[in-house]
Amino acid sequence: MDRIRIIGGERLQGTIQISGAKNAALPLMIASLLTRETLTLKNVPRLADVTLLSRILGNHGVDITVVGKKAGQTTIDGQTFKLKAVEIVDTTAPYEMISRMRASFWVLAPLLARCGEAKVSLPGGCVIGTRPVDLHLTTLESLGASIELEGGYVIAKAPKGLTGARIALSKVSVGATHNALMAAVLARGDTVIENAAREPEVADLASCLRKMGARIGGIGTSTLQVQGVERLHGAEHRVLPDRIETGTYAMAAAMTDGDVMLEGARADLLQEVLQTLRSTGIEIEERPSGLRVAWNGGALNPVSVETSPFPGFPTDLQAQLVALMSRANGLSKVRETVFENRFMHVQELARLGARIDLKGDTAFVTGVNGLHGGQVMATDLRASVSLIIAGLAAQGETLIGRIYHLDRGFERIEEKLGQCGARIERVSA
Ligand code: EPZ
Repeated sequence: MDRIRIIGGERLQGTIQISGAKNAALPLMIASLLTRETLTLKNVPRLADVTLLSRILGNHGVDITVVGKKAGQTTIDGQTFKLKAVEIVDTTAPYEMISRMRASFWVLAPLLARCGEAKVSLPGGCVIGTRPVDLHLTTLESLGASIELEGGYVIAKAPKGLTGARIALSKVSVGATHNALMAAVLARGDTVIENAAREPEVADLASCLRKMGARIGGIGTSTLQVQGVERLHGAEHRVLPDRIETGTYAMAAAMTDGDVMLEGARADLLQEVLQTLRSTGIEIEERPSGLRVAWNGGALNPVSVETSPFPGFPTDLQAQLVALMSRANGLSKVRETVFENRFMHVQELARLGARIDLKGDTAFVTGVNGLHGGQVMATDLRASVSLIIAGLAAQGETLIGRIYHLDRGFERIEEKLGQCGARIERVSA
């Protein structure tokens, strides 16, 4: 199994191109199941999750053409995907595929909406908590589907089609909101989704669905109104930039006393994060082409942060913040409220010299004078990248194992960091 080897202590300096957002690209690709016509997606990141989802969609009958780097092009822009599902050839999504990526469970709603039936394995994904799917199922039931659980599969049926309804989500859930949207757009009549997730990736899906002919109001708010239509058509849509990748590289820059331009980053997607980082002393400049992040050394101010759904501080940047605060001047408090088991990085960061006390849902991070290299193991996607951030600043060599998690969500990470002066490479075991 490959590992990442970092020799820490180099300042990050230069430009990093921000990729299309994984968590927008995945539901957008899934939305192709809703129409016979071509959905063209631009700025799709090159990630293992995108490749896996392509295979899953292929199984259902989606024909996918990928246009990558063109001749003569020097920078790597995102890929363009053309997805076309003229016929749904299979409404079953098998365990072997769905168990490897949680988002693939979201094929349930479009398959049901278009074909009147779907059999989808219960999902897998990062080990960060129990991650139930009750909200997804009650949502579809509200729209008139019958749901049965059998042998680890969800069997959903709506032979006469779905019917619009009022859906009040008992908890803010990104996935359940995607699911509700993709089901409601083809339902008969009106649907109102209350307590909907306001994450930019949800808004991105809703905007794309609108281009496909869906009638959706309230985009970006916690109440979405959907007027069902009979069919959707093809469209072209550009995946929005990855706010989690942006926040991650901003913290990597600060961690190494660096000065980095995050090209293509959008400040409006991570206001709360920028505010938190600014409160530590990090300099962040909003420019038309992206964000410049700089830190001229010394200890950062500690912070007290709680993760929460958008527009709050994202859980997907919690591990990175914990790593960053190990170089703060004093005690930081980082409370995780979205997932109950998302602190697997704590013991690994401790191997590199971080001082973190975990009490319930809160990590108390005491800043230290410096981290040192060591051997650590990636446990989930965002935890893995927190180890990279720590390794970049640590004295000596850090070896990170189980890096397949990273490839799920960070495009060409060694290349992007390497171009800014990091000494980082992938080594075969
Ligand atoms: C999405 O996961 C993201 N995944 C996650 O990113 C992200 O951490 C999460 O949203 C929160 O922002 C993708 O977009 C592919 P949720 P999702 O449903 O939709 C509970 C990453 O690293 N819940 O918003 O699965 C759930 O247990 C990943 O890129 C229920 O109780 O998350 C959690 O506590 C990891 N019942 C909370 O809601 C349900 O039916 C929020 O989860 C569904 C969720």
